Amino acid sequence: MTSRLRRAQTGEPTVAPPDGSVPYDEPLTPSALHRRLRTAHMGHRIYHYPEIGSTNDRAIELAAAGEPEGSIVIAERQTRGRGRRDRTWISADRLGLYLSMILRPGGEVSNAPLFTLLGSVATARALSSACGCVARIKWPNDVIVKGRKIAGILGEVRSSAPTLKELVLGIGINVNHEAADFPSELGDRATSVYLETGRRHDRCALLVEILERFERCYLAVLRNGPEELLSAWRQLSAIPPGTRVSLRVGDELIEGILIDIESDGALRLQVGVGSTRRVAFGEIEATRGPAEADHA
Ligand code: BTN
Repeated sequence: MTSRLRRAQTGEPTVAPPDGSVPYDEPLTPSALHRRLRTAHMGHRIYHYPEIGSTNDRAIELAAAGEPEGSIVIAERQTRGRGRRDRTWISADRLGLYLSMILRPGGEVSNAPLFTLLGSVATARALSSACGCVARIKWPNDVIVKGRKIAGILGEVRSSAPTLKELVLGIGINVNHEAADFPSELGDRATSVYLETGRRHDRCALLVEILERFERCYLAVLRNGPEELLSAWRQLSAIPPGTRVSLRVGDELIEGILIDIESDGALRLQVGVGSTRRVAFGEIEATRGPAEADHA
């Protein structure tokens, strides 16, 4: 058990930092968030839980019941936090950020992956500006530091409508985890803001930064289309064009050279002489080329 969890469980007071900021392991109360948040919609309605199964599951329920765009669900701890491909998202008490947003962007359902990219861009930029932690994005939704995962994004559409009537975007970030807070089976694949910077961070400040950045970029996409987002993504991508990648799509392993990202968030690969292939869903398993040396 880590020292701060021991302290929390024995009821010892948390000491306020001298600069007047919120102690890093304070709960993310809606009132503290509202005091700091400068957004037009995002985070105006907050559902906060000390413990929940999955914030995405709760947000999906709320969205189906008509909850407005911009409402968020946050939890101090998740007991069934989910990642892509039914993986578990380790969600230890008050160490990370576990957030789900309700979005109603309209447009075609096929554009849903764009908003997942937006989540990863907002998260990577907020990690840098709020915590001084320089992160990159590994397509489609991993936020990584030196090849280790620090955050993940899970976009889910549960409605059968042809338009993107409702979308839930879940963001999980490892903030104040020590190495011992991750299960051993993760090996050295996970990292946290604390492990990368050597400092504990105020989760409330990081959350505010994500919501503000997300809203700005979201409104720009809705007004002007995805170009600005795609160019931000290209700058943050851990895998530059020209890199040889192996992409897992279900049972298929696709080998190719990364050309670019397309306007709906799919990747374009060169898979043979004069032959390209578009991949909308999948997972990058390996890269060979400039990516590992320079970026990831
Ligand atoms: C991934 O990398 O596979 C995505 C991980 C997403 C985790 C977040 S934590 C908040 C939200 N609630 C969930 O159950 N999952 C997402």
